[in-house]
Amino acid sequence: MAQSTLLKGRILSFEASPFEEDPDAAARVHEAVLIENGRIAALGTFDALSAAHPTADVRDYGNHLIMAGFIDPHVHYPQTAIIASWGKRLIDWLNSYTFPEEMKFGDPDYAAMIANRYLDLTTAHGTTTMCSYCTIHPESVDAFFTAAQARGQRVVAGKTCMDRNAPEGLRDTPKTAYDTSQALIEKWDGVDRLSYAITPRFSPTSTPEQLEALGALWAEYPHCLMQTHLSEQTDEIEWVRSLFPDARDYLDTYEKFGLLGRGGLYGHVIHLEPRERDRLREVDAALIHCPTSNTFIGSGLFDMNGLIADGHRIGLATDTGGGSSFSMLRTMAAAYEIGQLRGRPLHPAQLLWLGTAGSARSLRMEDRIGNVAVGMEADLVVLDLASTPDIAQREAHASEFWEAVFPTIMMGDDRAISDVWIGGARVGA
Ligand code: GUN
Ligand code: ZN
Repeated sequence: MAQSTLLKGRILSFEASPFEEDPDAAARVHEAVLIENGRIAALGTFDALSAAHPTADVRDYGNHLIMAGFIDPHVHYPQTAIIASWGKRLIDWLNSYTFPEEMKFGDPDYAAMIANRYLDLTTAHGTTTMCSYCTIHPESVDAFFTAAQARGQRVVAGKTCMDRNAPEGLRDTPKTAYDTSQALIEKWDGVDRLSYAITPRFSPTSTPEQLEALGALWAEYPHCLMQTHLSEQTDEIEWVRSLFPDARDYLDTYEKFGLLGRGGLYGHVIHLEPRERDRLREVDAALIHCPTSNTFIGSGLFDMNGLIADGHRIGLATDTGGGSSFSMLRTMAAAYEIGQLRGRPLHPAQLLWLGTAGSARSLRMEDRIGNVAVGMEADLVVLDLASTPDIAQREAHASEFWEAVFPTIMMGDDRAISDVWIGGARVGA
């Protein structure tokens, strides 16, 4: 008989989206969760589950909150070492900090060192799945997938493609972008828990010929995700207009080359035109909100309220290292603050849902990860809701569950992560 593990605590499970149902109806708190063969096998009371599974290993987390591991659907792992770089806006920030650092990833040893450092840091913050840009070097993709595979993590990643407006040494061509991306899909996509995302960085760094080649590649591998950036800063949008004078808008620079579709992930999407919003909704593409990045680089305020009301598929991401934190708790806090500035205070249930089930939906993996439900993969984070004196004193006089959770969302960091489980194995925080 398979070895089973029984975790006791306060297990948070979503039965519906808290954007569609009242948060208290959308979420349920169970007393115990049973893990077998890397998956959630049952939820219920501790007495019932321990009676039914008397040989299970039991781990008692007291009143800690046990929930799905965080999912970060837009990151650049190669920017780990340049997080928190001062004083620039997007294009200058790319040229001054990002491109020189990304240049180093042709070296497989450096790429492996940063990939492992990034995964150590994000595990400590309770993130169990991410979708990462790599660099133009295939070595950077091999390094990331190798490191994630060794840890049993479900991750998505892709080679970043650029054939103009980037320094010598960081440019490929339409043909090499196509051929190398295809070879990496064949090598990695669907191996263990790894998936490939076709990755044109953004339209300013790709010629029309490269966008067309990657659109053709996506048509050949339509089950793959495709990730890029869209409408992040106003100067960037002006630049796109001058580079693509015939395009109707920024989205059109992707759309006309086959890079708009289901399975597309569009990062930032702050300054959208009505036509762009409509088309993204029509194809049910994923919009990725990167709140710490949008304030740090000075990009603008995502319209969560309007986009949710229109039924968009939305994920929540750090955008490391344009984002200023590896922590999805900090990212939820920033989403709350931006919501306040735009007149919509997100409920704690909505914030936790965005960073788990919502992000899983953006990756089209909601049947496997992002929730604690029978049959889902057992990627879990255990949260201490009183991890520091300041949080503890606020939590102590909460009168209900969500009021006890909210201080950890707003003030919590890696000290709040008391344990992490990946694929049913305890990895520690
Ligand atoms: N737009 C194009 N590349 C990048 C990047 O690396 N980070 C951010 N935030 N925006 C981008
Ligand atoms: Zn990005």
